[in-house]
Amino acid sequence: MLGLFYETKDEVDCLKELNHEVQVTLLEAMLDGSKVGTIVTDPSQPDNPIIYTNQTFVDMTGYSQEEIIGRNCRFLQGAGTAKEDVEKMRTAIAAEEKVIVTIQNYRKDGSPFWNRLVIDPVRIEGKLYFIGTQTDITLERSQQQAIMANEDEIEKLMLPILSVQENVATVALVGTMYHHRFETLKVKICEYVQLHRIEYVIIDITGLSWNENSPLYWFKQIYDALRIMGSKLYVTGITVSAAQQFSNDLDRDDRLVTFSTIERALNFIAQEEKSKQNMR
Ligand SMILES: Cc1cc2nc3c(=O)[nH]c(=O)nc-3n(C[C@H](O)[C@H](O)[C@H](O)COP(=O)(O)O)c2cc1C
Repeated sequence: MLGLFYETKDEVDCLKELNHEVQVTLLEAMLDGSKVGTIVTDPSQPDNPIIYTNQTFVDMTGYSQEEIIGRNCRFLQGAGTAKEDVEKMRTAIAAEEKVIVTIQNYRKDGSPFWNRLVIDPVRIEGKLYFIGTQTDITLERSQQQAIMANEDEIEKLMLPILSVQENVATVALVGTMYHHRFETLKVKICEYVQLHRIEYVIIDITGLSWNENSPLYWFKQIYDALRIMGSKLYVTGITVSAAQQFSNDLDRDDRLVTFSTIERALNFIAQEEKSKQNMR
């Protein structure tokens, strides 16, 4: 039965020279030493039981060989196992098709682990078997989640949006502005403005490393996006030379207003609000 694990012609030729018992022992040693759990099931028997397990599967699950052989592999499933994955496996097995899932399984001691599982149908001398290979990817997955949480945290730090008044939001940018960060900033600001019904956005660039080549049109893009949403953008914390650059490059039609400090921008907004009220 284990002859099905040979892959290349060379391997097969070489192994043919060994007697059957030696072949089986060698292959079992190979499978037991592997990092991947391997089981074989026999679908001609009731409920497709496991007829072979390697030592890795025993170690991975905490069940002994005697407890594994003769059972359907669903004994590894539990409360956290996704029903869609089980369904996917059931359908593929019934259709005798290969299936790959990453599924939550449980060890004998009840602890959960993430199992990257490949189920492959094989026919040997006309008889159907299924080979299952299981890789415990719990560590890989938790590391991935930690990285994602970290990235979220970094993003939050990079885009600290605050509501300073009911209808005013400020964003204090620090560090360097690069294209991806700018795109994220644009999306986040628009989402925030929509969600909190913000009328005025102040972007403060005091802490931003700013040089003559910094693309000012980025701010113009945010300005335009906000204008469509009925909100206004003010840029604060800019140096005199940057202010000049703003007015030369972008501000010809006197649209993008800049201030030296957030306070000044807030005063300006207060006056605008007052004159709006007077007009009503
Ligand atoms: C070769 C093979 C290996 C399998 N390995 C696992 C496994 O490691 N974990 C698991 O949750 N299910 C595994 N299964 C799936 C279950 O045995 C079963 O097919 C699945 O739960 C769908 O059937 P059910 O709805 O009757 O439970 C394996 C199935 C086969 C055929």
